[in-house]
Amino acid sequence: MNRMFDGDRLLVATHNKGKLEEIAHLLEPFGVTVVGAAEMDLPEPEETEDTFVGNARIKAHAAAKATGLPALADDSGIEVDALNGAPGVYTADWAETGQGRDFVMAMTRTHDELEKVNAPYPRTARFCSTLVLAWPDGHDEVFEGKVEGQCVWPMRGMDGFGYDPMFQPDGYDQTFGEMDRWEKNKISHRARAISAFVKGCFG
Ligand code: IMP
Repeated sequence: MNRMFDGDRLLVATHNKGKLEEIAHLLEPFGVTVVGAAEMDLPEPEETEDTFVGNARIKAHAAAKATGLPALADDSGIEVDALNGAPGVYTADWAETGQGRDFVMAMTRTHDELEKVNAPYPRTARFCSTLVLAWPDGHDEVFEGKVEGQCVWPMRGMDGFGYDPMFQPDGYDQTFGEMDRWEKNKISHRARAISAFVKGCFG
């Protein structure tokens, strides 16, 4: 039996504006107002684990401990089959320049590595999202969502964030970068994880 979330304001332990906007939009129908980590002046903890769930736990528990409130964290990334699942848990790191993140550079690296191994088409991949809801007493609940698709090149579309312009979900002609937020939020890994969270924690 899961522990229920019974508040109407939910702290989301992320500094990523794209993620925060998606989570806020996905939780709107359930009457939940989302508050981001930046609004609460929370530091960004170092993600030292090598799994999505491990890093989501670090972020959720740090925020719950610092604020005394239940906190939700998402750890996510793209797994490319021909790259043995890379960048996976290191998806954000591939965008690190030393002076911020550059996702065009990260997508270019992903494409270059696929070319290097002469990966056949379709270049299958999936986006994964692991959500952890942590309480200040140390309890947590874990929810996961995935969406299957393929890497395309050149990148297409200006909507969304991160690797959206190079990911085309199965059954669609558009990349996530070409879809509007509503369309992406019907099928995305994060939408699926949020749906499991709502089923598990909203009674
Ligand atoms: P982390 O969860 O903070 O480690 O970062 C995950 C990284 O994966 C983000 O910085 C994005 O680059 C990428 N990512 C996760 N979800 C999405 C998505 O829905 N679209 C595009 N990129 C994503």
